[in-house]
Amino acid sequence: MRSPLRICGGVYRNFRGRRQAKENRAPPRGGLTIVNTSPLDNSEARGDCSRLVSVLFFKRFLQRPFQIASIIPSSKALVERVASKMDFSQPRVIAEYGPGEGVHSREIARRMSPDSHLLLFELDAAFSRALERQFAGDARVHVIHGDAASLPYELKRRGIACCDYILSGIPFSILKIDKKRALLRKTHDALAPGGSFIIYQVTNELKQHATLFEHAESEYFLQNIPPMFITVFQRAPSLHGRGRRAAQPRKPSGLVRVGADRSA
Ligand SMILES: C[S@@+](CC[C@H](N)C(=O)[O-])C[C@H]1O[C@@H](n2cnc3c(N)ncnc32)[C@H](O)[C@@H]1O
Repeated sequence: MRSPLRICGGVYRNFRGRRQAKENRAPPRGGLTIVNTSPLDNSEARGDCSRLVSVLFFKRFLQRPFQIASIIPSSKALVERVASKMDFSQPRVIAEYGPGEGVHSREIARRMSPDSHLLLFELDAAFSRALERQFAGDARVHVIHGDAASLPYELKRRGIACCDYILSGIPFSILKIDKKRALLRKTHDALAPGGSFIIYQVTNELKQHATLFEHAESEYFLQNIPPMFITVFQRAPSLHGRGRRAAQPRKPSGLVRVGADRSA
């Protein structure tokens, strides 16, 4: 019998299907928390077309393993944990890099207010089409089939000054250093003062490059296959001491286009 793996005083029974003995969060040590909160469930049903979209995920991985970088979508537990890093009590502008088949996007769209906006940047054409179909009836969601690096352009052409949150699931660790730094710079500059850049990654290597951000806090999240570092980088609040949240679009008419916006 496999002996239980002990993590920060909690018992984690195995890696598939069984529940951990108890919720257990270690106190922050040097900005890193190890969390063991809920079941591993990447394979758990996630709504109507969950099986189909997971098949799509696996197929896209086979086509472009380095770009997709995972054979299954994020677990429900990871999705909920990531969403809990955002405050949805006000209208928000949120950008997501690499939504894949949309497991985080659906949760964000579910939580955000009717006058919020979610911009999805997805390089893969098949995922983009699947996202267009999923969000066809939701005017708040804008699917952009293109590189995350086009964020400044896409914000500008919609008259959006900045984002409250930028979420990333793209495999940053395999980006060349100059591309990585350029995307970090664009991401930082696109955030409102006090806004957050949230990433979930197998490694925490981005932390050493993301020095533009004033504050970073990581946790190691075990309830996903594979376990992930979730890191929240925060842009410095404004000089007046309070974070300015993202301005509403200057030209609301620039936002009426629903569905895919081809950027490249
Ligand atoms: C590991 S998958 C994450 C999918 C999904 N967010 C999830 O958590 O299950 C990475 C996704 O990022 C996309 N991607 C990779 N590089 C990208 C880039 N530069 N811009 C936009 N999307 C990118 C891939 O096509 C893929 O869909």
